[in-house]
Amino acid sequence: MALDNIESTGPTDPLRIAVIGAGNIGRTLGAKWAAVGHDVVYGVRSPGAPDTASVADAVARAEVVALAIPGAAAKDVLASLGQALPGKVVIDATNDVEGTGKLHALDELADGAHPARAFNTLGWENFADPVIDGVTADLFYAAEEGRAKEVAHRLIADVGLRPVWLGGVEAFDLVDSLTRLWFTLAFQRKLGRRLAFKMLTGR
Ligand SMILES: NC(=O)c1ccc[n+]([C@@H]2O[C@H](COP(=O)([O-])OP(=O)(O)OC[C@H]3O[C@@H](n4cnc5c(N)ncnc54)[C@H](OP(=O)(O)O)[C@@H]3O)[C@@H](O)[C@H]2O)c1
Repeated sequence: MALDNIESTGPTDPLRIAVIGAGNIGRTLGAKWAAVGHDVVYGVRSPGAPDTASVADAVARAEVVALAIPGAAAKDVLASLGQALPGKVVIDATNDVEGTGKLHALDELADGAHPARAFNTLGWENFADPVIDGVTADLFYAAEEGRAKEVAHRLIADVGLRPVWLGGVEAFDLVDSLTRLWFTLAFQRKLGRRLAFKMLTGR
């Protein structure tokens, strides 16, 4: 069934993406996006590899910024970027697993930047391989309508997941609820990290 919130809405030109953080999430998403033609640079604290730059330099050249750093660091990193973010889509993949209470980092995003929360609700293994038993996993995300929603939708699909839009910034907490569901099932119920969600719809 074609639903409004899972249809493709974005343009097709390659995007200039700054992935902030080059760990499990950053490298997994960045590799997927580069493989389909996006221009990906990793913003890191110690640049050296050819596809890395300082966080500030990576962001300066990008139209999309994906945060893939510890949740506890996200607000400070965003604050350090100051006025570099207006006009850009900022996708926050971070989770407050440290329990700092400092999230949502995007609450303090500079005016004119376009916020999204995506890639929070599943373990990275499911981004590396989004098909389980022949079924493509869904990724539930929240994003401001317009550019943020279009870009997040496209980048989720480019990873190989089916995007499902939950709403705008008012749905950020709902994303966190799904993350808690994933953690509960994967760890407390011991179902393991190779666990994802699928939405079924009917009339
Ligand atoms: N792992 C998952 O399955 C998963 C799933 C969904 C969401 N997430 C969330 O995604 C985020 C990243 O998780 P991860 O598993 O990719 O972590 P990770 O493997 O530990 O990588 C974290 C990266 O962040 C960098 N970093 C740390 N502090 C930084 C700072 N102050 N400024 C710039 N870069 C900094 C680290 O760089 P250095 O080498 O310089 O330390 C490292 O490259 C977390 O918020 C996590 O909760 C994770």
